[in-house]
Amino acid sequence: MKILVTYQSKTGFTKKYANWISEELNCELKELKRINSEDILKNDLIIHGGWIMGGMINGFDKIKKLNPKKLIVFAVGYTPKNEVDMKQIAKFNNLGETPFFYYEGGMNPKKMGFIGRIIVKMVTKQKLSYQDNTNKDEIKSLINKVKMG
Ligand SMILES: Cc1cc2nc3c(=O)[nH]c(=O)nc-3n(C[C@H](O)[C@H](O)[C@H](O)COP(=O)(O)O)c2cc1C
Repeated sequence: MKILVTYQSKTGFTKKYANWISEELNCELKELKRINSEDILKNDLIIHGGWIMGGMINGFDKIKKLNPKKLIVFAVGYTPKNEVDMKQIAKFNNLGETPFFYYEGGMNPKKMGFIGRIIVKMVTKQKLSYQDNTNKDEIKSLINKVKMG
């Protein structure tokens, strides 16, 4: 089975998970903005990772429209995993039957952009500081799902 991992990442955490997944599956990795219809046609499975912004999974609409044969999605946000409402995210993003995983990313204020920093400060009511809560172990269930077919 030919697999392609795509991602949309602003500050690097989603890219980190995408890298780990493509390494584990020994498959190609490509940023979403470089994806074309040929990439979609030649792969049996697309695994797309997008960072979450205001509950929205970046890039999901784009990848869905390209109509991959099979699609798995993972989303990366700063919300701790035990506080995430998976059903709500699935509904909000119209994921339908698309298999979906959530991973904890982090905060990189330097790369968030001016507006991003203002929004996150308002929402979290916290002083922003660099945090990396990524964990490679989290990808295991996705990898198992792919290997089980
Ligand atoms: C404008 C903005 C909105 C965000 N909204 C959410 C959100 O709704 N839920 C969440 O869990 N994280 C949210 N985040 C946090 C990012 O998803 C988090 O920092 C993530 O790790 C970024 O991934 P990246 O490094 O791949 O860009 C938001 C961040 C920014 C800058």
